[in-house]
This record gives sequence, C-alpha cells and structure tokens, in this order.
Amino acid sequence: MAQLTVSSPAKINLHLEVLGQRSDGFHELAMVMQTIDLADTLRFKTTADGQIQLECSRPDLPTDASNLVVRAGELLRARSGFPELGAHIQLDKRIPIGAGLAGGSSNGAAALLGLNRLWGLGFEAPELTAMAAELGSDMPFCMAGGTQLCFGRGELLEPVLPAAADTLAVLLIKQPEAHVSTPWAYGRSRELRGDFYLSEEQEFAQRRDALRQNPLLAQLAEGRCPPRLRNDLQQLVEPEVESVRGALALLAQLSNGSQTANPQLSSPLTVAMSGSGPSCFALFADLGQATAAHGLLANALETAGFEAWCCSFNPVGVSLI
Ligand code: C5P
Repeated sequence: MAQLTVSSPAKINLHLEVLGQRSDGFHELAMVMQTIDLADTLRFKTTADGQIQLECSRPDLPTDASNLVVRAGELLRARSGFPELGAHIQLDKRIPIGAGLAGGSSNGAAALLGLNRLWGLGFEAPELTAMAAELGSDMPFCMAGGTQLCFGRGELLEPVLPAAADTLAVLLIKQPEAHVSTPWAYGRSRELRGDFYLSEEQEFAQRRDALRQNPLLAQLAEGRCPPRLRNDLQQLVEPEVESVRGALALLAQLSNGSQTANPQLSSPLTVAMSGSGPSCFALFADLGQATAAHGLLANALETAGFEAWCCSFNPVGVSLI
C-alpha cells in the first residue's frame, strides 16, 4: 500500500490592502504573504474502496465535503478521469482554526500535492495551482509559499525577489476560542469603505506597482524588521473583536520598557493582525528575539488565556516530507 506525508505550513500577511470590489463579488487585493514554520501534517494512504476518507486530530473540525482537503481530493480525482481512486488522509492539526493563518487553505493545497503524487497522476505545478485557485483564493499561495506578492483575489502570485530573509521570526498569539469569519470581515470592509473603493483596472495596476516598489520588500530581504505593516482589515476587525484588541495590547507591552529589561529585544516593535484575524503577531529579526519576547510575555499571555507560537519564516509552502 502506497503512503506519503506532506507538511502543510501556515501563512501570515505582511501587507493586506483592499483595493476594491470585483464583478465576481470578491475583493481585489494587493498583499504580501509569508509562509511560517507552524505546520500541520497530512499522511496519505491509498485505499481500494473509492472513498476519500479524512480523519483529524481536532474533533471540532468537519471531515466531510465541507473540508478543503476532501474537496481538493474530489476535484483532483474528477480531473484525473479515474473515479475509482481512494485515499485515507490523517490530518494532524497544529495551526489554529479560523485564525487568519490559512490553515484550511494550506491543508487543501497539501491534499492536491499529496494525492497527485500518491495516485501517480502526474499533474504539473501550473495545473495544480489552477485547481488550487478554483478551491480558494489563498490556496495557490499555500502551494508556492515563501514570500509572495499576491494580487487579484489573492491567487495571482509574483515571488518577491530576493525573498524575505529566513532569519526573520514572529511571536504569534491567539485566544483558543476566538474566531473571525473571513466573509464577515470583507463584508464590513464593503459596508464601511465601499464608497472609497477603487474601481478602474488602471487604478488597481497603479496600486500593484506601488506595492512592488514598497520599501517593505527591501527591508524584508535584508532581514530588517519594517517599522510598520499595513492590514486594511485590521482597522475594521479591531474595534469589533475584543480578542484582537487584547492581542495587540499584549504585544504592545513588549515596546514598553522591555527593550531595556531585555537587550535581546533590540529593534523597535512591529505588530499586526494576520489576514482577517484574530491571530496577531510581532515581528523580530531572529527566532532568539521572538523566544525572548515570548518569555517576557509568558505570564501575561497565560493570565489572558492566549496561546503563543514562536515561528521562523519558511522559504516554501506545502512540501513532501
Ligand atoms: O476564496 P475564499 O473561499 O478563501 O474566500 C472566502 C470568502 O472571503 C469569500 O467568500 C469572500 O466573502 C471573502 N473574500 C473576498 N475577497 C477576496 C478573498 C476572499 O471578498 N479576495
């Protein structure tokens, strides 16, 4: 029986700009996304029963056709022309769910990669990326990974060259029970900002060019922490989601005298929400600084009921182990 294992890492947004509304109902975006080394694992085995069966270490995650892993398997099988193909997939979750870290999209991308190999289908990367884009806006990024400019719905990728230094690291925090619905966050954006949305393709193109020239990219490539990150959804979500306000306030404590308390925290603090939240992160020049910051905040995080992860930047997306 054939089997294989795929690593399915999370992402954070280093820039998220909502440009306008598209005719397909989605938002036109200009983003910088970054893979981090907080990863789920998917183990695939072939089965002879023609079923795509998903088992997950988190009992609260649906394992039916609403899960992107199952939908990815069904799409791949339909495109292969071999309806009899079956697989058992064991998903071990470490990425928090509904967190703005693209955990579900990454798992779907991992299923495309893993099942293509397991079933010996031979689809090439561009074909898998096209299937990924049909299933979710973040899924093509999750396949490619690293540091990418993401345009359109988020599915049009341009690698940032040179990529962000992989020494950069984050302290990522989230309350276990907190979730933000992505459609809700974009709906709020439409309600509150719709009047200011750009609408012409020429205006979108100008914003894309501006992001390609943004000093953020050079700072990341040189391993320097940018002084600020832009996430247009943060200003909408923060006033309405207590957990996000709490997370940002906790991380901000790191800039209140902690640099003198701990000289390892030498650079000014850059803090942002990831995606539509509620995960928030502080950026550091290396994992040692992120770990030191975690140590300084450990008591406050525990008291406020937050989970925390120290993660490095990862140069690739989903990958065979
Ligand atoms: O593509 P995905 O299924 O991840 O998108 C989830 C939801 O987020 C969409 O149904 C839409 O409400 C919102 N969204 C959006 N514009 C985007 C991406 C997502 O409005 N570019």
